[in-house]
Amino acid sequence: MVTTPTPPSFTVIEHPLIQHKLSILRDQGTPTKVFKELVDEIAMLMAFEATRTLPLEAVTIQTPLESMEARRLSGHEPVLVPILRAGLGMVDGIRALMPSARVGHIGLYRNHDTLEPVEYYFKVPPDLAQRDVFVLDPMLATGGSAVDALTQLKKAGARRLRFMCLVAAPEGAARLCDAHPDVPVFAAALDRELNANGYILPGLGDAGDRLFGTK
Ligand code: PRP
Ligand code: URA
Repeated sequence: MVTTPTPPSFTVIEHPLIQHKLSILRDQGTPTKVFKELVDEIAMLMAFEATRTLPLEAVTIQTPLESMEARRLSGHEPVLVPILRAGLGMVDGIRALMPSARVGHIGLYRNHDTLEPVEYYFKVPPDLAQRDVFVLDPMLATGGSAVDALTQLKKAGARRLRFMCLVAAPEGAARLCDAHPDVPVFAAALDRELNANGYILPGLGDAGDRLFGTK
């Protein structure tokens, strides 16, 4: 954990359950099955904070005793947009809380030499402007993938965006918040730095490989 000042749109969720689970996730001995379960659990816990400002509307309901004015989520169902591959690991945990959420997909991978994102897939619901959009990727390293994904989503009409990651590097946090200051960013940890290969230190390694057992 670093004490780097963070931009106002960047929030580290310090909840003890999240920090506990993150410490197991980071451990190199944690096997693929447990790694996936932990990513889901952490994403679910983070969603509690990331969804805090979703709009509500008043509805009149009838309890077994009387009628009352209650509150429900208003408007179109939210959209989860995982950045492939590793972002997929966060979908199930959040969908357990918001089962009617739509799911879009953005395919990006980092060129190993330039570390810049290469786009290969984009499929999202057509009416993005009317929806709250949650972009998911466990790792915010240089920030290139996140900046590109948010730019693509804005071009497709998205207006109410949030970005959720598990581990962020200071370099990626600064780049993302500079490029998209209107987008709230939620992370479970802000780590120390990037290494020469663009990996987060101390980090957790390659999130996609650890999730899918492809190392
Ligand atoms: C990882 C990670 C992010 C990206 C972060 O994906 O899941 O998408 O790197 O790096 P950046 O902030 O420097 O752009 P990767 O390119 O390894 O693809 P994968 O998810 O298919 O493994
Ligand atoms: N992508 C990962 O999976 N891990 C890192 O540390 C950086 C990018």
